Amino acid sequence: MHVFDHKGELRSYIKEKKDGKNIIGLVPTMGALHQGHVSLIKQALFQNDLVVVSIFVNPTQFNKKADLEKYPRNLQGDLIILEHQSDNIIVFTPTVDEIYGESIVSNTYQFDGLDKVMEGEFREGHFEGVATIVELLLLTISPDRAYFGEKDFQQLQIIKKIVESKNMPIEIVGCPIEREPHGLAMSSRNERLSKEVRIEAGLLYKVLLSAKRKFGTESADEITDWVKSQFKKNTLLDLEYFQIADEATLTPILKVQPKKKYRAFIAVYADDVRLIDNLRLN
Ligand code: PAJ
Repeated sequence: MHVFDHKGELRSYIKEKKDGKNIIGLVPTMGALHQGHVSLIKQALFQNDLVVVSIFVNPTQFNKKADLEKYPRNLQGDLIILEHQSDNIIVFTPTVDEIYGESIVSNTYQFDGLDKVMEGEFREGHFEGVATIVELLLLTISPDRAYFGEKDFQQLQIIKKIVESKNMPIEIVGCPIEREPHGLAMSSRNERLSKEVRIEAGLLYKVLLSAKRKFGTESADEITDWVKSQFKKNTLLDLEYFQIADEATLTPILKVQPKKKYRAFIAVYADDVRLIDNLRLN
């Protein structure tokens, strides 16, 4: 397994491999790897000759300083996990200086409204930060395919939009959500939950499953009110939003239209840990 922290060296290595006709996959991560990340890496290893896994806690996508400071970091553990996966993994672990140099700023983008709702509404500047680092990684590595989890469905749609609008010859592959046995979507942030709260957080998936059952017979407002009532009763979890939206445009549902696909999205605070999840409804 090769580990690079300089983008120039990584770029030359990849160029050599691409000249040798190797197909390259990219899995961008912020580390503290878990089975959700591993599922993306396995899929990428299956479809490509070599897979670059980037590990970089990107400061510009955190809208709260405390969240950035408390974000779990475990590079040694991550490298052990990656070593066990395959010899065909290349790890990129740049520093903030290596990525941004003097000015740690985000680019501006036009996402056709995809960034105005849900995560975009509650985390100002978040998607500009994500888009900037992902674009930079795509330009540095020029992979044939890049892998993103449906866990961050809005992020996945925004990245598809960037690649499409900039005509990048890269296939963006969406991968299903990996869950803990009681339903909680795996996340690096779960490490920060107490045992009690972690079990309680299974409620996110439970309400998403109920929303799916109710969809079609109850209105979006009725379902939303029901979800709110489930969290009102709960003393450990605070609902930030629950939203049923059109999967393609992410606009909130007004009236069900037969040919459209809808998804329910949820964000919840468990103490100061923010959890998100989503589920396709039809
Ligand atoms: P991070 O949260 O580390 O996630 C890296 C990738 O793993 C993302 O594509 C995310 O959707 C996916 N992922 C996380 N948990 C998952 C789960 N339970 N099941 C399936 N996939 C899961 O998302 C980011 O980092 C950053 O925003 C990044 C794209 C790296 C840009 O900084």
